[in-house]
Amino acid sequence: MGKGRRQRTALVQLIGPLAWRHRGKLGIVLLVMPVAAGMAMLIPYLTKVAIDDYIVPAAEQGNLDLVYQPLMTLVALAFGVVVVGYLADATYTILLQRVGQSVIAELREIVYRKSLRLPRRYFDDHPIGSILTRVTSDMEALGEGLATGVLGLFLDSLKTLAFLGMMFALNWRLTLVLLLLGPVLAVLTWFFQRQVRASFFRSRAALSEATGYLQEILSGIKTIQLYGAEARVIRRFKDRNRHYLKAQNVSNFYDALLFSLVEGISTLALALMLWYAGGQLLAGLLTLGVLVAFMEYIQRLFVPIREFTQQLAVMQRALAALDHINQLVREPLDPAEENDAPVLDEPLESVVFDNVRFRYRPHEPEVLKGISFRLERGQTLAIVGATGSGKSTVIRLITRAYGGYQGSIRINGRELREIPAAQLHRWISVVHQGVFLFGGSVAFNMAMDREVPRETLARISRYVHADIFIQRLPGGLDAPVNQGGINLSAGQGQLISLARALVAGSDLIVMDEATSSVDSITEGLIQDAVEKIYRDRTVIAIAHRLSTIRDADTILVMEQGHIVEAGNHRELLARGGSYAELVGKLETVVE
Ligand SMILES: Nc1ncnc2c1ncn2[C@@H]1O[C@H](COP(=O)(O)OP(=O)(O)OP(=O)(O)O)[C@@H](O)[C@H]1O
Ligand SMILES: [Mg+2]
Repeated sequence: MGKGRRQRTALVQLIGPLAWRHRGKLGIVLLVMPVAAGMAMLIPYLTKVAIDDYIVPAAEQGNLDLVYQPLMTLVALAFGVVVVGYLADATYTILLQRVGQSVIAELREIVYRKSLRLPRRYFDDHPIGSILTRVTSDMEALGEGLATGVLGLFLDSLKTLAFLGMMFALNWRLTLVLLLLGPVLAVLTWFFQRQVRASFFRSRAALSEATGYLQEILSGIKTIQLYGAEARVIRRFKDRNRHYLKAQNVSNFYDALLFSLVEGISTLALALMLWYAGGQLLAGLLTLGVLVAFMEYIQRLFVPIREFTQQLAVMQRALAALDHINQLVREPLDPAEENDAPVLDEPLESVVFDNVRFRYRPHEPEVLKGISFRLERGQTLAIVGATGSGKSTVIRLITRAYGGYQGSIRINGRELREIPAAQLHRWISVVHQGVFLFGGSVAFNMAMDREVPRETLARISRYVHADIFIQRLPGGLDAPVNQGGINLSAGQGQLISLARALVAGSDLIVMDEATSSVDSITEGLIQDAVEKIYRDRTVIAIAHRLSTIRDADTILVMEQGHIVEAGNHRELLARGGSYAELVGKLETVVE
């Protein structure tokens, strides 16, 4: 689909249904538009009547008293026309702006809601920054489009038509002469519009590159300061900033050029008319009133044209933003995410992998090459293996962070992809490799915004030994946590993350154990907590600590997407294979 066509589709698909909700207001807008255009058209016409019918005859007779009364009536009428026109204009602008802003607010909500439900794969392919752009600057571009009066263009176009119609009615020859300038204006606008648009987009791209760089730098600021790389970073930023400045200058240059050209042409139109009208006036083909009315019409005709040329870039940007937003909104969701069958109260009984194969992208090599295992309620399963062997991938499949596997994954005998998301969340909680802590209290981070009784939170923090450090925090469970958890140590974060998984009350705890080392006291606490969880719950864990691996009912050893060994600690040690070798290494590390 072409870009222009796609942008129009976006306009209809996105804005159509939202605008329809405001059809009452839009109906009023449609009603006041002809009124506003009609009144605007009448003013120069009334001037013409005043001049031709009253002022000129009175001047010829040298007696103003004769026309004083009717002239005053005309002035009163003109006053009425101005007031009605003003009211219609104001109603139009206010209503349309209101509708526009509500539509944008609704759209923002749609985008926000959608971006929270996108499949994980989408986040692999689109950096968070670009998604953020959708919700922020694309929305801003739309808002800016509205705010700069793009909406006023509808009424302006109608007014232009009304003016031209009246001009034709007053003197069609003169109007035709003026229309000769039309093609000149069209060609010039067309040419400059392309330049303005191109340079505008270049400057936008340069800006977003500069901001993107800044964002990256700021998120890596600690590393940069540690390595004293500030000077180099600033030099790079300077380059990008200069690009932006240059693009901005070109864009402004064309913008200004176009604006003054349109100004020039409007003056040219006036001159052209005076030249032509002079002859006609003398020949009696034209009255003074018509000439004055035409001068007025020309001024009014060029105002919207000038504005239009100024707003082209903004409009282009708004349309492009709309297209981006539409692409995000149309992004297909994982079908299982939309399955809202009722959540059953049955407990999780078994998880079965049956010859599961998986690749992250269609043409990439397989990451899992036929994984089979079985886990019953109350059992624990530990997955070990070298980095990149596919351990986390197994977990991502169970939690359905990624779909599209081959083979079969069954929970309680039901195929994973048919299980509603809410049911899956009821069954499974995940403890991640990277703990993410939100800005809020400790309690908020444990309960994840759910209603959980205080006693439960306290009991679980005791269970995972998080109570020891929580007690020391000012406010205990209500102590604030900074976004990203920077006021907590890595180990404390991990304890909260364990507690979080237990608070959710799911049957199966899935753990991707963190490898980052923590201080030995916290390490001991975590180890003890994990061992307890192993004893009491159904667990699948990617384990790095020998103590926890040893306790698992089943240990899977993975190598390059295969399970090379499976069994319990004693069986695998006795085999003297990869597992025995791994255990040997872990033991030397401990010593
Ligand atoms: N989102 C992704 N997109 C594409 N390939 C990926 C993605 N995540 C992981 N991979 C690839 O899949 C393979 C297995 O990765 P996985 O994360 O499962 O390894 P792992 O065994 O958990 O390793 P580690 O012990 O380092 O955590 C790796 O080769 C990795 O490059
Ligand atoms: Mg991993």
